[in-house]
Amino acid sequence: MSEHYKQSQAEQKLDIIDLNDLEEQAAKVIPVGGFGYIAGGSEDEWTLRENTVAFDRRNIIPRVLTGVENPSLDTSIFGIPLKLPIIMAPCAAQGLAHARGETATAEGVAAAGTLMAQSTYSSASIADTAAAAKGSPQFFQIYLSKDWKFNEYLMDEAKRAGCKAIIATADSTLGGYREADLRNNFQFPLPMANLQAFSGGNGQGKSISEIYAAAAQRITTADIRRIAEYSGLPVIVKGIQCAEDAERAIGAGASGIYVSNHGGRQLNGGPASFEVLPDVARAVNGKVPVIFDSGIRRGSHVFKALACGADLVAVGRPVVYALALGGAQGATSVFEQLKKELSIVMQLAGTQTVSDIRGAKLVSSYPGEN
Ligand SMILES: Cc1cc2nc3c(=O)[nH]c(=O)nc-3n(C[C@H](O)[C@H](O)[C@H](O)COP(=O)(O)O)c2cc1C
Repeated sequence: MSEHYKQSQAEQKLDIIDLNDLEEQAAKVIPVGGFGYIAGGSEDEWTLRENTVAFDRRNIIPRVLTGVENPSLDTSIFGIPLKLPIIMAPCAAQGLAHARGETATAEGVAAAGTLMAQSTYSSASIADTAAAAKGSPQFFQIYLSKDWKFNEYLMDEAKRAGCKAIIATADSTLGGYREADLRNNFQFPLPMANLQAFSGGNGQGKSISEIYAAAAQRITTADIRRIAEYSGLPVIVKGIQCAEDAERAIGAGASGIYVSNHGGRQLNGGPASFEVLPDVARAVNGKVPVIFDSGIRRGSHVFKALACGADLVAVGRPVVYALALGGAQGATSVFEQLKKELSIVMQLAGTQTVSDIRGAKLVSSYPGEN
């Protein structure tokens, strides 16, 4: 199948006006099976659509006479300085979007001054992706295998490559019901480097459901503790959608909570990720940092997520589309665009710094409700 899969080789800065435009443009560049896998959600994609629509239900109050000028987007996580509170979400198989895959993304994300999360199911290896970032910070996202030898191998590689935290994704003990993949009979046309290096069973020719089926289904809080103890790195649990699970994860030694519904790719019919964020953030209560993703397409969405308790937000699909359209420079363009939009929102909302955003109060967009 791989010889028929035509990968983009584009390398250019993108002139972005609205991140939402990228999807249609990328559909012209990415082969149909790969595009369906990247763009799709589960079932009829209600949750996928809700993820972005939900931001419209909370409003930002414009503030005046605040003396704000040139807002600063600088922030940090675990003591790692970042130029903006926006990072790259872990996304599998980026070779589907570009011949250089994650190595181009890593380079582009580093140029934007922020952090890349590598997926277990990357097209490129942990070491090659880390090398492309030339010392810029990276996290490693683990999909637990039933085979702890593989889990340990991944964590060893991540540590050797200098990754600064492990993101343990807990919401994908099987694949969501993704209809685009079924209609396209999508099987990964390219190998996944981390699988290949360990077992030679590299994912090529497999569907996403087959790949998830080979991973662990019975994941519990004990696994979080085991990852933390083995790796010695901060562990961030990804896929948290309610206060109780956040508390259980922290109780098991999690050093970060990652609020996400996997971009609407897992449980369709669940709420927008943004809807559950305030509850989760209240439960976390500053004990550990909160990362948020799913549906972020605008600077105002970033602002609203931070105002509702996120410390950082992550972006998935728009960066993968931009990778297809412009390689490393394309990826950088997405972060620059969000930075531009967020700076405008910060100025008009009277917030000079990222911590000022956290103190901003949003109001309901429904009259009479707050
Ligand atoms: C093509 C693609 C591959 C993904 N692969 C992974 C993955 O390997 N591990 C993971 O934890 N999340 C994965 N996700 C979910 C993202 O980390 C993130 O939660 C989601 O993309 C955020 O929503 P957004 O695309 O609306 O920004 C993937 C998402 C996409 C679109």
